[in-house]
Amino acid sequence: MEHDCTYTLREPVLFVGFMGAGKTSLARRIARDLGLTSVDADTFFSRRIGMPAGAFIAEYGEAAFREQETAVLTELLDREPAFISCGGGIVERPENLEVLRSRFVVYLRTTADESRQRITNMKNRPLFGDIEAARELAGRRAPLYEAVADVTIDTAGLSVAALAAKVEPVLVERGVVCRRQE
Ligand code: S3P
Repeated sequence: MEHDCTYTLREPVLFVGFMGAGKTSLARRIARDLGLTSVDADTFFSRRIGMPAGAFIAEYGEAAFREQETAVLTELLDREPAFISCGGGIVERPENLEVLRSRFVVYLRTTADESRQRITNMKNRPLFGDIEAARELAGRRAPLYEAVADVTIDTAGLSVAALAAKVEPVLVERGVVCRRQE
């Protein structure tokens, strides 16, 4: 979008979707385009805990991770509004679903097969499993992502720039992002 005007974010925007959907890259790109802030929940988690999400899951298990993930979500939503990329499993806990339902959520829809091709760092995704398991997990989560989404975007074949060009005008239309009068 135009770079010669200033934008404000009226409320947090949460990006959800399966592992490898491109949530982090898109949140970062949109924030950069609009001169606003993005934060990746897993990066925030790993700074806080001192180890990456994947290593934490491998060592302490998924349930322990989900607890921390909920705490991180709560904390990020308490801060200044930002573009927040969530881990793919944020929809696993009913209490997170309730929070997400009351917030502005962009769902990046993808398939396990497309994700597999995009993911370079499999070490940080111990829950991806083999492709059969990933297809099953993605299928189970799809209706949960749909249920919390305000906007759903199909990511197939689209670059980060193309996705940003689709999402940014929607954020303005919905009044989540406002042009600031100078
Ligand atoms: C997970 C997704 C990962 C990370 C963790 C668990 C999941 O984040 O939070 O490995 O359960 O889908 P990305 O969606 O950024 O890969």
